[in-house]
Amino acid sequence: MVPHALALPGARDGRATLARSVALFRAFRVEQTDPGRFYGALAADSVAMMRRWVALRGASVLDVGGGPGYFADAFAAAGARYAGLEPDAGELTARGGVTGNTVRASGLALPLADHSLDVAFSSNVLEHVPDPVAMAEEMLRVTRPGGVVFLSWTPWLSPWGGHETSPWHYLGGHRAADRYERRHGHRPKNDLGRTLFACPVGPMVRWARGVADDGRAELLAVLPRYHPSWAQWVIRVPGLREVVSWNAVLVLRARAE
Ligand SMILES: C[S@@+](CC[C@H](N)C(=O)[O-])C[C@H]1O[C@@H](n2cnc3c(N)ncnc32)[C@H](O)[C@@H]1O
Repeated sequence: MVPHALALPGARDGRATLARSVALFRAFRVEQTDPGRFYGALAADSVAMMRRWVALRGASVLDVGGGPGYFADAFAAAGARYAGLEPDAGELTARGGVTGNTVRASGLALPLADHSLDVAFSSNVLEHVPDPVAMAEEMLRVTRPGGVVFLSWTPWLSPWGGHETSPWHYLGGHRAADRYERRHGHRPKNDLGRTLFACPVGPMVRWARGVADDGRAELLAVLPRYHPSWAQWVIRVPGLREVVSWNAVLVLRARAE
């Protein structure tokens, strides 16, 4: 994983350059055939991004919905104390054995005490839970005052919102899943209402502003995850952001209640 990760422009310093966006997009195109390359690049990029808000050396990091632990190596290389959390046994073992320091549980009911972590991190999971606000609240609950919550997800109206049924989800999510089943002989892995849920940008941003207003967190960033810095303004435009953000990011710093 690491050689691919090092090949990604900006993977080390977290700069949101056009070269970095292009490299991420190229890696994404081989996600199915060479997942190690894509996830290695995404993990290195995510760790570089996290460094903007938190010193990772020695920090405790929980990766909620971490799958088989694609991000474990990158966080460990940054000196973080990484733990994965994943409910699905198939996902946990998708790379063979289970990565050490992993617990089988749901992001909707984290098996952790309040304020017990430095970083609660989640990449591409919110759209897979039926109640994304409940998961975000859980992540904020377990983060210590001063710690960081990182949430990223693919909004439903994004070109990739329907995942493997895209772009047919624009004609209706159930219709897109039915079409997929007719062509492939089985339901899509990301099946609307079962394993995939519409998670627009607007309600999550309103949730983040709400917890900032009630003093439970500081809202550090709202970003389109893969865009170069000069295109990040799109996330501030209601409506437009649902379609062109591609992947949305919220970063919060927890405060003492
Ligand atoms: C698209 S994968 C993302 C994996 C990894 N975080 C990444 O960015 O590559 C979505 C993951 O969310 C997990 N997931 C689904 N429901 C969940 C829940 N209630 N709590 C935590 N994770 C969940 C799935 O099992 C799957 O591993």
